[in-house]
Amino acid sequence: MNVHKIAVIAGDGIGPEVIAEGVKVLNRVAELDGSFSFEFTYFPWGCEYYRETGRMMAEDGIETLSKFDAIFLGAVGAPGVPDHISLWDLLLVIRKSFDQYINLRPVKLLEGAPCPLADVPKEEIDMVFVRENTEGEYAGSGSWLFKGKENEVVIQDGVFSRKGCERVIRYAYELAKAEGKTLTSISKANALNYSMVFWDQIFEEVGRDYPEVKTYSYLVDAASMFMIKDPKRFEIVVTSNLFGDILTDLGAAIAGGMGLAAGANLNPERKFPSMFEPIHGSAPDIAGQGKANPLATVWSASQMLDFFGHADWGKRLIECIEEVLVEKKVLTPDLGGCATTAEVGNEVLRKLS
Ligand code: NAD
Ligand code: IPM
Ligand code: MN
Repeated sequence: MNVHKIAVIAGDGIGPEVIAEGVKVLNRVAELDGSFSFEFTYFPWGCEYYRETGRMMAEDGIETLSKFDAIFLGAVGAPGVPDHISLWDLLLVIRKSFDQYINLRPVKLLEGAPCPLADVPKEEIDMVFVRENTEGEYAGSGSWLFKGKENEVVIQDGVFSRKGCERVIRYAYELAKAEGKTLTSISKANALNYSMVFWDQIFEEVGRDYPEVKTYSYLVDAASMFMIKDPKRFEIVVTSNLFGDILTDLGAAIAGGMGLAAGANLNPERKFPSMFEPIHGSAPDIAGQGKANPLATVWSASQMLDFFGHADWGKRLIECIEEVLVEKKVLTPDLGGCATTAEVGNEVLRKLS
């Protein structure tokens, strides 16, 4: 029996509610398959842990996590704990320490999912964002000078290394080639006269190895406009850390909402564990009320199954999500229903078996 060892960090707010459903679904998939199983180990890290210990995770947390095959994360962040501490000391430190330099975020409108754009058939919203996930605007480099003084100065550096840019752009080209899709790079070289000029240059350089891939290059402002006005332009998309963060929330909005948006933080070399999570946050406004939509987490479970080589099950899970959306009988309030988080999870289980 192939046992996948998963570290679970349910985290804060709606994190534990949606993760419970993701775990249920993964266990059912393993049960139905019979050739593999999951061993889940739970870590109580997050803002509650911070309030008790002054740390977001155990001191040897990264060392502990490195022993697992993957990490399943709910959400991090709670009112009262500064976001830059809670996120940097848990989510971002994991992405960086485990060199999870690919953040793969599908933006795909499933049958039955609500779309705020008029007259857009579902086939026209079918993208995969490849977001750089370890450096760029999120490098964490900068300084805060003369704090509180009249001449106070804050500097936040963008760090774009050749290695960092090349590897994410090459990954995106490989994906576009394998899937026979177009590749769009999103940058902003007209204003960011170092980092994005460099990004565009590397996009072109790496592209020489992929003459068969049709490419487009957009400025981020125009790209955000086209995602709304003409989303079919985008198939595989590669972009920087911050632009990818923003554009995938926009992507979520046109593909059914935050309750359906998933992401995989991948270390493609598999030297370190990869991490699977819904892209939404801890949603303090609905936490603890059973209102959170668990389907984004189920989608990220599907990405985990793909990553472990169970792509048939990964696909099946997406079909189950789609069946639930089409039937519209068991949906959480964000999708116009009145079912609870657990009821939606149970509905996915019913579709599976
Ligand atoms: P958010 O994604 O938590 O919520 C935005 C809106 O979407 C809210 O109205 C919320 O109710 C709704 N929403 C989100 N997920 C939903 C779901 N599964 N079902 C139904 N509705 C859902 O973003 P925010 O409010 O900007 O951030 C809240 C906290 O989460 C902050 O502390 C932030 O830093 C953190 N955050 C964490 C992550 C992460 O852990 N990956 C991601 C984003 C934000
Ligand atoms: C996401 C989140 C994180 C990010 C935050 C919470 C640091 O918004 O995963 O999209 O910006 O990467
Ligand atoms: Mn985000």
